[in-house]
Amino acid sequence: MRPRVVYAADVEPRAFWVAGRAVHGEDELTVTHPYDGRAVGRTSWATPDQVETAVAAAARVAAEATALPAHVRAAALDHVSRQLAARAAEAADLITAENGKPISWARAEVGRAVSTFRWAAEEARRFSGELQRLDTDPAATGRIALVRRVPRGPVLGIAPFNFPLNLVAHKVAPALAVGAPIIVKPAPATPLSALLLGEILAGTELPAGMFSVLPLPNDRAADLVTDPRLPVVSFTGSGPVGAQIRRRVPEKHVTLELGGNAAAVICADWASDEDLAFAARRIATFGNYQAGQSCIAVQRVLVHERHHDVFLPRLVAAVRSLRTGDPAAESTDVGPLVSVEAAQRVEAWVDEAVAAGATVETGGRRDGASYPPTVLTGVPSSAKVCAEEVFGPVLVVASVESDDAAFAAVNDSAYGLQAGVFTHRLDVAFVAARVLEVGGVIVGDVPSYRADQMPYGGVKGSGVGREGVRSAMDDYTEPRVLVLTGVQL
Ligand code: SIN
Repeated sequence: MRPRVVYAADVEPRAFWVAGRAVHGEDELTVTHPYDGRAVGRTSWATPDQVETAVAAAARVAAEATALPAHVRAAALDHVSRQLAARAAEAADLITAENGKPISWARAEVGRAVSTFRWAAEEARRFSGELQRLDTDPAATGRIALVRRVPRGPVLGIAPFNFPLNLVAHKVAPALAVGAPIIVKPAPATPLSALLLGEILAGTELPAGMFSVLPLPNDRAADLVTDPRLPVVSFTGSGPVGAQIRRRVPEKHVTLELGGNAAAVICADWASDEDLAFAARRIATFGNYQAGQSCIAVQRVLVHERHHDVFLPRLVAAVRSLRTGDPAAESTDVGPLVSVEAAQRVEAWVDEAVAAGATVETGGRRDGASYPPTVLTGVPSSAKVCAEEVFGPVLVVASVESDDAAFAAVNDSAYGLQAGVFTHRLDVAFVAARVLEVGGVIVGDVPSYRADQMPYGGVKGSGVGREGVRSAMDDYTEPRVLVLTGVQL
């Protein structure tokens, strides 16, 4: 067991960041550890005046930010990447402290954030636009167009608790890469990692006003969402809040990443002992990583009927082998959920499924904020654990008569983020890619796979727009055409 980490609660409250300056606000905010409720850090809420200062500064600096040379933006992003790498142990401890995810997963998150910023630095150097020839029409002989992308304006990034560093990085890094100021509102339960990021950003040469990190209660975010000086809103969080944002500001450019009930499909050809053992291990791990609190955690498992009776006991054994407990311990695979309320909701949803006829193959009783890794069978498709995003360590397994039936079941959902398809057959992979109504299909693995540079986002209730560094850069910018005349190519 790793020595118990001494968290930051015993030192001064952490500053937050208004237009690049460290400040303190009103009313202390104590951040607690989901595992045992002890205080792990303190900060304060931004006052209305501080929010106004941040927004006014972002609006003021926007033109200067757009004009920043690529080398300045890239240098700032490289600096953040390097500093995060240098402070990786501290950042991982902070993530585990405030979010409760096991330390090994927290380290992985830091590694991803390092790469998100590094990738953004590289994209900042490449982001050039394109030359389009116009002399395809006689009237346009001697004309060319330069199509560049320019920032739509300052970005409001609203981040969730489940990746308190890397999902903040996915808002900040693309904004800085294109030269757009950004105001980040971290999740109230997990602001500390974002504040660390603010500290690192403050060490860059970026102009003041280019970034702010504002701890705010959720009910104070509405004013920022509707503020016309922030024409881009990038939100990751719950469906109802996302829908509300979209309704509130139809005139703004809004990116919504709203989660899902991700499915893994075991196809007919995924048949050998080794295949099934591999899929069982991957699904057990990625149904329960971060206690299931990832938008692409496996939730629904659709197994070809030929394999169901062999696969199910293997999956149950793999799930039972996961070690639960203190997330600071090296050996822990599954820690607590973010709060007792979150675990109570999961418990209520499982109870509802059981009342509707489901069988608990493994799982147990809630203990505070911790809920044991659970496998259910015989779940009606209308039960919340199947139809909604459970965001907890629960797998729902069903037998299907064919691959096509499995794909239809994947699509029988209000969501469509990513799907995992265990097949060796290229033709099946292409069918899956064609018919599945999702933002991404992962072949030969779980839906939970994400590389930070790839487009990431969903269809239907899973949101609009795409994250992933380059995709977000496109999202934060719009094309601007410069037509030149009297030019021979
Ligand atoms: C999410 O929960 O949407 C993010 C998943 C990831 O970045 O791996």
